[in-house]
Amino acid sequence: MLRSVFRCLRTNSVAGQRSMSQSSLAGKVAIITASTDGIGLAAAQALGKRGAHVVVSSRRQANVDQAVALLQSQKIQVTGTTCNVGKGEDREKLVRTTLGQYGGIDILVSNAAVNPFFGNIMDSTEEVWDKVHIKPANPTLHVASPPRSLQALGPYSVSKTALLGLTQALTPELAQSNIRVNCVAPGIIRTRFSSALWQNEGIVEEFKKQLSIKRIGEPEEVGGVIAFLCSEEASYITGETITVTGGMACRL
Ligand SMILES: NC(=O)c1ccc[n+]([C@@H]2O[C@H](COP(=O)([O-])OP(=O)(O)OC[C@H]3O[C@@H](n4cnc5c(N)ncnc54)[C@H](OP(=O)(O)O)[C@@H]3O)[C@@H](O)[C@H]2O)c1
Repeated sequence: MLRSVFRCLRTNSVAGQRSMSQSSLAGKVAIITASTDGIGLAAAQALGKRGAHVVVSSRRQANVDQAVALLQSQKIQVTGTTCNVGKGEDREKLVRTTLGQYGGIDILVSNAAVNPFFGNIMDSTEEVWDKVHIKPANPTLHVASPPRSLQALGPYSVSKTALLGLTQALTPELAQSNIRVNCVAPGIIRTRFSSALWQNEGIVEEFKKQLSIKRIGEPEEVGGVIAFLCSEEASYITGETITVTGGMACRL
């Protein structure tokens, strides 16, 4: 699967070609997985506003329809399809749909994650580890997290840490094909996924102590960073993990 996706990626980012507007993504085709809500949707908006054709997807058709309608209302060129990233046939369909519609892929934002377990890592079962599966679902630009391990979210944190290694391992391999690989590691961002954290005042107050910017982040603040990394403005950035945390002290 990985090889087939990367074979489809059109390349030019590492080669150093520059255009008039380096932030423009006009004419580029971007697949963003898990993109009908939260950070994925914000990334689709940010890429779309810079002129990219965006392909949004998630598991539920109703969510896909809603996201497509929203993006269309913002004059963004968008196609939507269902895709559960845990299913190989869905990932194949996503790529096929994109190639059928646009003839190529320029940008891949691998954004999906699961967190099936909350508790002491020593109590996690094999099923939990199967579910968070440390297996790449199309890594080109990952949204990883958290920049430091969160108590009670052990398996999730480990799965994200694996993406840091994957970024490092893929970078030299794919640079030969003029493909850049970067990773974004958000702090706590206000989405449905993290609502158990930011809806709990006690947890928020505790987190704020670690932040320089004393508030929870918004999805758009991550979406813009993703769009920057996908643009020619970032043409000499590869193999990096960019944290978007409001200044949370962290060691990657
Ligand atoms: N929010 C944070 O504080 C935070 C911090 C660090 C990292 N992250 C990372 O950011 C990414 C996005 O999280 P988020 O906070 O934006 O989540 P979110 O707002 O809850 O959105 C999740 C999106 O993923 C889709 N989705 C869920 N499971 C999927 C699957 N198996 N296959 C395809 N799509 C799926 C959902 O739609 P359907 O229900 O229709 O599938 C929805 O569109 C995740 O990788 C997460 O680990 C989030």
